[in-house]
Amino acid sequence: MKESVGTSTFMYPCPLVAVGTYDAAGKPNVMTVAWTGVVNGNPACISVSVRKETYSYQALMTRKAFTVNIPSQDLLKEIDYIGKTSGRDTDKFAATGLTPVRSTLVDAPYIEEFPVNIECQVIRVDDLGLHTMFIGEIKDVKVRSDCLDESHMPVTEKIKPVAFLPGDGHYYALGKRLEV
Ligand SMILES: Cc1cc2nc3c(=O)[nH]c(=O)nc-3n(C[C@H](O)[C@H](O)[C@H](O)COP(=O)(O)O)c2cc1C
Repeated sequence: MKESVGTSTFMYPCPLVAVGTYDAAGKPNVMTVAWTGVVNGNPACISVSVRKETYSYQALMTRKAFTVNIPSQDLLKEIDYIGKTSGRDTDKFAATGLTPVRSTLVDAPYIEEFPVNIECQVIRVDDLGLHTMFIGEIKDVKVRSDCLDESHMPVTEKIKPVAFLPGDGHYYALGKRLEV
């Protein structure tokens, strides 16, 4: 037997990322985003869905560029903080000690301390209701050298990404690799 729990965003698991932008004045900002995912393979595209009330929304609309920064688990405090404060009234980089790096490919900063940085150019904006979805074409993916294997491929066990479960609002590590 199944029971309806209504319409909700129980989609497991969500990746947890930090989205980097510049505001209209060029000040770097960063926010936590769980509503993100791959939406196309060629050209490689990912989406981030952002509420209009956020400071990042204005920046995304103005600059049409963003970075998606994948945290390692030791950045959990920072990822939580940047998801609970606004760049409208806080310099989150100064507050956390994180370092914004100017991308040479898109008009958005990536974050030095995060092991994976994905630089995106906005190619589509879709107002879905509470959230607006920004689809970004990936211009480059930068991975910290010690998280790459001999074939130059990212190693998940070294990156140690964080997952988010919309149902309970907690953060999770990834589980064991499964064999078929
Ligand atoms: C775990 C977590 C996930 C979040 N996911 C999203 C999201 O997907 N979209 C969104 O608009 N806000 C999301 N937020 C809230 C924003 O990060 C928050 O509103 C932030 O203060 C916005 O920053 P800004 O005003 O500097 O842009 C999330 C917050 C947390 C803690």
